[in-house]
This record gives sequence, structure tokens and C-alpha cells, in this order.
Amino acid sequence: MSMEYFVKSGNPEKQRVACIIVGIFDRRAASEPAEVVDKASEGQVAAILRKGDMDGKLGSTLVLHGVPGVFADRVLLVGLGKQRDFDETSFRKANAAAARALRNSTGAIDAVSYLTHIEVKGHDTRWNVQQAVMATEDSFYRFDTLKGAPSKEHLPVYKLERLTFDVPRRSDLPAGEQGLSEALAVAHGVSLAKDLGNLPGNICTPSYLADCALQMAAANPDLLKVKILEEADMEKLGMGSLLSVSRGSRQPAKLICLEYRNGVKGEKPVALVGKGLTFDSGGISLKPGAKMDEMKFDMCGGASVLGTFKALVELKLPINVVGVIASSENMPDGMASKPGDIVTSMAGITIEVLNTDAEGRLILCDALTYTERTYEPAVCIDMATLTGACVIALGQFPSGLFSNTPSLARALLTAGEQIGDRAWELPLWPEYEENIKSEFADIANIATKGEGGGAIIGATFLHKFTKKMKWAHLDIAGTAWIGKKGTGRPVPLLTQYLVNYAAKEE
Ligand code: BES
Ligand code: MN
Ligand code: ZN
Repeated sequence: MSMEYFVKSGNPEKQRVACIIVGIFDRRAASEPAEVVDKASEGQVAAILRKGDMDGKLGSTLVLHGVPGVFADRVLLVGLGKQRDFDETSFRKANAAAARALRNSTGAIDAVSYLTHIEVKGHDTRWNVQQAVMATEDSFYRFDTLKGAPSKEHLPVYKLERLTFDVPRRSDLPAGEQGLSEALAVAHGVSLAKDLGNLPGNICTPSYLADCALQMAAANPDLLKVKILEEADMEKLGMGSLLSVSRGSRQPAKLICLEYRNGVKGEKPVALVGKGLTFDSGGISLKPGAKMDEMKFDMCGGASVLGTFKALVELKLPINVVGVIASSENMPDGMASKPGDIVTSMAGITIEVLNTDAEGRLILCDALTYTERTYEPAVCIDMATLTGACVIALGQFPSGLFSNTPSLARALLTAGEQIGDRAWELPLWPEYEENIKSEFADIANIATKGEGGGAIIGATFLHKFTKKMKWAHLDIAGTAWIGKKGTGRPVPLLTQYLVNYAAKEE
């Protein structure tokens, strides 16, 4: 059974549940709900803190049993760190730690958390509940479907079934409920994107992604339509660039098109375009062996489109959104593109493929042209694990953002800040176009002169195909997975952007 979440408002000591959760700041300064519990127990909590079992370090936890004056079976103390330093990240870490402790160190079947009472500068109850739920869902996420059945011994006797987030006042309940429903929609989208990312390349193929989209449409027939363009269709459309990437693979490429229509009829949609490269070996420009397995995550841009659509149908936002996922493998074989090959894109621009490992831009440029011509979107945002250089430039915290429209860049940066899935803008200056000039074709797929700036070069290539649209590009190479685990990013950023977009439409 999956977990259920609730929002309510009530006194901590009066909760008849298996566990209540309260925060403790560093230097034993209890948060307000913890003080209430302390009073009810006639100083028991303070006494335990004095003994030194819990020092309030951020993320530390301690389970107390049978606290007098408290109806709940257990009190879970969660360290919040120094009160002065308490910020958004601390709030998320504390909630994640609480979720972990609840699951790993208690047999509690239900719990009420008072961590949502803690004030985080610049944020309200809606944000608190939203972020608490998202942090909890993130920490509960598991990907173990491909492991053998777990031995019964390791299964907990009881499992958490109900988790309630308490809000300070009854008047906060609507805000809390709103935060909860947004968070759940985002979390379900994130979880789908993580699953697809974590799946290996032999399972998560272009056909698998296409089926996933078709299933989502079948489950939401009144909101969502999906059509899949096959290689023959792409041939007819002149997508020579995209097809040059799939030519070296036994898996047929798919162009997965999703149409979510719930806004004003005929109103131009927001377009989300994703790189769905289900395995990137580099092709004839073969990658080195180390960490090549991680190139199963090269479809995370596409997965984030599917994840965002999952959130979208759950939130039923009153807008029109289209998604286009360019999906292919990049493999070396006798048919594969060779360095120096020249291909013609759907836009008619010829491309010299100097490195077959710069394939993301080759599949995306045709997907972007198709999106522009088919849907004439109000704005177009693409997501791609495009360049290793972006990881060098920005590390793993922000996604790289590029845009030809400052207001769109601003809206995306703001959405990322709001929900805690941030981006950082890099330049898209015309100067860089010099760097992708080709001796023999209109452009080359890698830099032919100049030094460095690989993430910008990739974006500059895509920009050649998006001049007629309000367009933004998110390079998620550093953020879509960390270590060997998918993060589901940038589903939160995109969903928040759409929530804001829908609010502005009204
Ligand atoms: N999918 C990779 C980018 C990538 C590499 C993401 C490592 C995350 C970690 C992309 O297709 C690629 O191979 N890009 C090349 C471009 C180069 C050949 C200009 C790269 O980044 O090395
Ligand atoms: Mn590549
Ligand atoms: Zn790639």
C-alpha cells in the first residue's frame, strides 16, 4: 500500500498517533512545537537534551518512547542545526532526515510532523508543506524492481501508512492543502522520471519511452493525446540529422509527441522538447569505458518531459502544452555516421558531423524544427543532458540555462528558485556562432575553432534552429543524475513554471 498524506492543525501533545516529529535547533534550543511537548512532559525533552543524546545537529535524529504527558507512542526529535543558519536547504534536509528515521528506526504506522511549523525566511505554509512532502517522497523513493525478491527478514513489521503535516493555524489549512497537492503531483512526475532514468538501456529503449507516453495518454484520454512518429515518417519530413544518429543502432528511433489540451481552444501551447537518447556510446567517436554505463541516463531530458506531463494531468492545469521527445540510441556499427559525414536537417541546414558523440544536438535540432512548424508554440523549452562541459562549468547544483528571450529566462530562473530546482544562466552571444563554422557544410556539430565553453557551443548549435521561437535550453548533464541515481530533475522546475504560467493566463 502506498503512503497517504494529510494536512491538519492541532496540538502536538494531543496527537493519538504512533509518532510525532518535532525539531530541535543546535545548542538545545527547541523549536516551538518541541517546547510545547517539553512543557506537557514536565521537562522530559529538555532533560534528555541535557544528557547529550541529541545536540540538534542538522539532520540528526533521536526517537523517544513513552514521553509522559504526550499521547503519541513516540516523539521523533530532528536536529535543525543553528537557528541563525536555518534556510531552505536545512528545511529540506531536516524533513528528509525525519522521513529516513521514521522508516528505518521506527515501526510507526502513522505520524504527525511539526517540522512544517518552522519558519523559513521568505516562505509561507504552502511552501513549507510542499517542500516537506517533496523531501519526504524523495527520501522514500526506491528503485529495486530489478533486484531479486527481498528476503522477508528485512521487511519491517509495520510500515508507515499515514503522514500528516501540521500547520500552525486552522486558517493555514487551504494553503497547506494546496502545497500538498502540488507536491504530490510533482513527486509523482519526479518518480516517473527517476524510474525511466534508472532503467538500463536494454530495457528503456526508444520504443519503451514511446509505450510509456502511449500508456499515459490511454489513462487520460480526455486530456492527453500521443502520436509516435516512426523512422519512415521522419524520413518523409526530411529529418536527416536525427536519423543519422539512429542509423548505427538496431533500435528504431521514435519521435514521441504529446499534446495536453486543457486551455483556451486554439491558444498557442507551451512546448517541452526532450533529448531521449536511451544509450550514448558515442557512436564511431566511441566514448572511453569508464562510467559509460551512466550514458543510460542520456534520455533524462525526455524523461523529464514525461514526468512533467504526469504532473500536468494530475494538476489539470488550464493550459495547452505539447511535448516532443527525440528518442534514439547512439551506437557504432557499419551503418553508423562517420566523422566528416554531412547530413541535411529538416530545417535544410547542412551539418558536418565531426564528432558522432555530439549527437544530442543532432537529434534535437530536428525535433525543434518539427515543434516550431507543427505547433507554433508560445514558448519552447528543451531539456537535454547535452554536454559534459556543463558539468565542468556549473557542477551538480544548477542546470545550465540558455535563452533567446530574457523574460523566459527570468521566468525559468524564478520557478527553479521557488521549488528548489535551480538553473543558472549562461550566455548565448552571437560571437560563439563563429566557432561552429564548417569547411564543407553550413555548420559543424562541434567547435572548429576557439577554446572551451562546450555547453555554450552546444546551445549555440541549437539556437541556429530556434531563431523563430521564444526558446530556452536547459543543459541538465550535471543535474539529471547524481552518482548512479536519477534525480528526476528538472521536473519540479518545469512544473512550477507551468503552474506560474497557468496563473498568469487567468
Ligand atoms: N550525453 C553526452 C553529454 C554528457 C557527457 C552528459 C557526460 C553527462 C556526462 C553528449 O552526447 C556528449 O557526448 N557530448 C560531448 C560533446 C563533445 C563531443 C563536443 C561531450 O560532452 O563530451
Ligand atoms: Mn554523446
Ligand atoms: Zn549524449
